[in-house]
Amino acid sequence: MAEQGLFSSGLISPSVASALPEGYTVRALRQSDYSAGFLDCLRVLTTVGEITEAQFAARYEEMKKKDDIYYILVIEDASSGKPVVVGTGALIVEHKFIHALGKVGHIEDIAVAKDQQGKKLGLRLIQALDFIAEKVGCYKTILDCSEANEGFYVKCGFRRAGLQMAHYH
Ligand code: ACO
Repeated sequence: MAEQGLFSSGLISPSVASALPEGYTVRALRQSDYSAGFLDCLRVLTTVGEITEAQFAARYEEMKKKDDIYYILVIEDASSGKPVVVGTGALIVEHKFIHALGKVGHIEDIAVAKDQQGKKLGLRLIQALDFIAEKVGCYKTILDCSEANEGFYVKCGFRRAGLQMAHYH
C-alpha cells in the first residue's frame, strides 16, 4: 500500500494530475520525501539549513496533527527511475472569525528545481493549491512574492492587491 501523505488524496486536482508530463505525479508530502530530495527542492527558494531526518519527522508529525491547516504538495518525477521531488508548494489555511467564520488560504514556499523550471510545473502547483483552497472552503487565497515573480503569479490568475509589511525577529 502507498505511504499515506500529509492530507487526503481526495484533495488532489484530477485535472492537474492529468496535465503533468509523463512520469510526473502530484501528491501530498510524505515523510519519506526527506530522502527523495524535498529539502533540496526547497533550497531553490531560500536557505533551509541542515535538518536531520528526526527533526524532519517531528515537524511532519506536528503538521499532520493539524491536517485542516497544512497542505504541502510535491511534484515527483519518476521518468528516469528513482522518484525525485522536483516541485513543492504549501497552502496554509487560516481559520477566522470574520466573514462568518471564513477561511483564507495562504500560498507559501513555491519551488521548482532549477533544471525543471519552464515546464509549467510551477503553474500546476498553484492550480493544485487553488483547487485545495476552494475544496476546503477558503473565500480567497493570497501570497507574497518579489517583483521578479509577479509575472508568474499573474499567469497563474493572481493580481496585485495590497502591500506587504514585515517585522523580522
Ligand atoms: N516572471 C514572469 N513570468 C514567469 C516567471 C517570472 N519570474 N516565471 C515563470 N513565468 C511564466 C512562464 O514563462 C510561463 O508563461 P507561459 O504560460 O506564457 O509559457 C508561466 O509563467 C508558467 O511558468 P512555469 O513553467 O509554470 O514556471 P516554473 O515551473 O519555472 O515555476 C517558479 C516558476 C516557481 C517561480 C520557479 O521559477 C521557481 O521555483 N523559482 C525559484 C523559487 C521562487 O522564487 N519561488 C516563488 C517564491 S514566492 C512564494 O513562494 C509565494
